[in-house]
Amino acid sequence: HSVAVLMGGPSAERQVSLSSGRECADALRVAGYQVTEIDLGTARGDEIVRRLADAAPDVVFNALHGRWGEDGCVQGLLDWLDLPYTHSGVLASALAMDKTRAKQAFRAAGLPVVESVIADAAEVRLRHVIPPPYVVKPNDEGSSVGVYIVHDGANQPPALSADMPERVMVETYAPGRELTTTVMGDRALDVTEILTSGWYDYAAKYTVGGSRHVIPADIPDDIRAACLEMAVRAHKALGCTGLTRTDFRWDETRGVDGLIILELNTQPGMTPTSLAPEQAAHAGIDFPALMRWMVEDALC
Ligand code: DAL
Ligand code: MG
Repeated sequence: HSVAVLMGGPSAERQVSLSSGRECADALRVAGYQVTEIDLGTARGDEIVRRLADAAPDVVFNALHGRWGEDGCVQGLLDWLDLPYTHSGVLASALAMDKTRAKQAFRAAGLPVVESVIADAAEVRLRHVIPPPYVVKPNDEGSSVGVYIVHDGANQPPALSADMPERVMVETYAPGRELTTTVMGDRALDVTEILTSGWYDYAAKYTVGGSRHVIPADIPDDIRAACLEMAVRAHKALGCTGLTRTDFRWDETRGVDGLIILELNTQPGMTPTSLAPEQAAHAGIDFPALMRWMVEDALC
């Protein structure tokens, strides 16, 4: 089969996507596919269509992150073109990208989430809209872009940068250990604990040695079982397909009640420091085998 790898694009996670895309393209070649890499840059819809027509792939490997690539937009375009693609479809992608609506769907499925409100950035700059500690983030970005932590006892509201969206999500700070689980279809792979010296920000995510991954996480059996089960339920609650990764916080002082879902990623990072390929490898699925599964899954 021939595969077109979509990567780059105009989102704030462009560089992450280029790194994911290169890793995936290399592994797809090792897996025996004929690969065309398409860096979308700031291409418009008509140019994307032209480049896909030139490549004439059997399947599209979506290695985009963030807006346009992870939010249902490119998925809708590919549906129009009748091209099969990896990862989730339009609705699941759009839901997962909107953190507030994803939480509503998780809550409806009985899954624990962190309380949050949507507020005007202008107001958030002026006063505490909820009592500290809390976190301010765009409602629809990934890779910790534009995330502000307001600590307990802080008297100043956060100095949000000018390029933050007009409406932002303000989320109660959830203390605890950072855990993550990758789901392949209906199978949860494992639980990784992420250890960082500060918090797991953009630099910690994408610098080699920026964080330490403990896999399998050194956690009690009931917490591990809950992560695996909740990740599959979260995947199904949004109607996801293919590969997803669900991120958790676990407050160990509260046992299993201290486990909450932070978010689900429909386009988990595939960079050299990313978590999903590492969990697959740990489950005995090397990168080319993971690519093969994703392509075959997209085709059926
Ligand atoms: N948003 C990044 C790519 C991730 O979730 O891995
Ligand atoms: Mg994310």
